[in-house]
Amino acid sequence: MSAQQAQTRKTIPDIRQAKGPGKVVALTAYTAPMARLLDPHADLLLVGDSLGMVVYGLPSTLGVTLDMMIAHGAAVVRGSSLACVVVDLPFGSYQASPAQAFEASARVLAETGAQAVKLEGGAEMADTVHFLATRGVPVVSHIGLMPQQVHAVGGYKAQGMQSDRGARIVSDARALEAAGAFALVVECTAEPVARQVTEALRIPVIGIGASPACDGQILVVDDMMGMSGARVPRFVRQYAQLGAEISGAAARYAQDVRAGAFPAAEHCFGVGNRKA
Ligand code: KIV
Repeated sequence: MSAQQAQTRKTIPDIRQAKGPGKVVALTAYTAPMARLLDPHADLLLVGDSLGMVVYGLPSTLGVTLDMMIAHGAAVVRGSSLACVVVDLPFGSYQASPAQAFEASARVLAETGAQAVKLEGGAEMADTVHFLATRGVPVVSHIGLMPQQVHAVGGYKAQGMQSDRGARIVSDARALEAAGAFALVVECTAEPVARQVTEALRIPVIGIGASPACDGQILVVDDMMGMSGARVPRFVRQYAQLGAEISGAAARYAQDVRAGAFPAAEHCFGVGNRKA
C-alpha cells in the first residue's frame, strides 16, 4: 500500500483468517472518545453488553436494551476508522427465534454501521447463527462463561473445569463454526479446554480468561485501564491506573476552586491584553 492510500477498516474476512496466537487484538469500547484512543491499536472493538455494568452501573448485563447497544455501537463506529466493530446482542433480543435475532441484528447493522454482531450460546444457538450468517449478518459466537446466563448457572464461575463440561464446550465450538460464525469468544474457561477449542477450529478463537494459545485476546477496557474500582477479575492485567489519576485530578480541581486558585486570569475573557 502506498503512503498516500488511506488505511481502511479491518474487514470480516481479515478477522476470519487471523489464525495463530496473538493475531487478534481486541478490546471493548463504549464511547466515541475511547474508540478514538483504542482504534490505532486494536484489530477489533467490541461494543460489549458489559456496558450495562461498566457504563450504567447495572448489577448484570441482563438489563441492557437493544436501544442502548445501538446508541453506543453508533458512537464507537463514529470514533473509529481502522478496527472491525462488533456489537453485542443484548439479553432477550435474540434467544426467542432466528427471526427475532435477524430483526435485532438488522437494526444493529443498519443503525450503527458496525460490521458484525456477537451473541452468547453454544450448539443450541447454531440454528440462529446459521440463519444470520446465511442472510448477510456476520456473527461472533460467545461460549464458556456466558454472563447473560448468570442466574441460570448461579454466578460468574470458570467453565470447563470438569472433563464432561470441557468436552461440551469443544463440541459447542465446533457446532458454531459449522453454523457459520466467523470468530468465537471463549470466556473464563479452563486453559486446556480453551487451547483445545483453538486447535479444533479454523476460525479465530478470542480468549478472555482463557489461554495464551488463543488466536486473540480481549479485555474489558475499564478493567485493563484501572477504571473499574477494586473488583477486577483475576484474568485481567491492568496496564494503567486511570481511576486513581481521575480521582486525583478531581481532588486537585476541587482544592483549587475552594481556594479561589481556579479560574486564573488566563482562563477569563476581557482581562488584560488577551483576545477572546
Ligand atoms: O460484554 C462484553 O464485554 C464481552 C466481553 C467480555 C467478551 O462479551
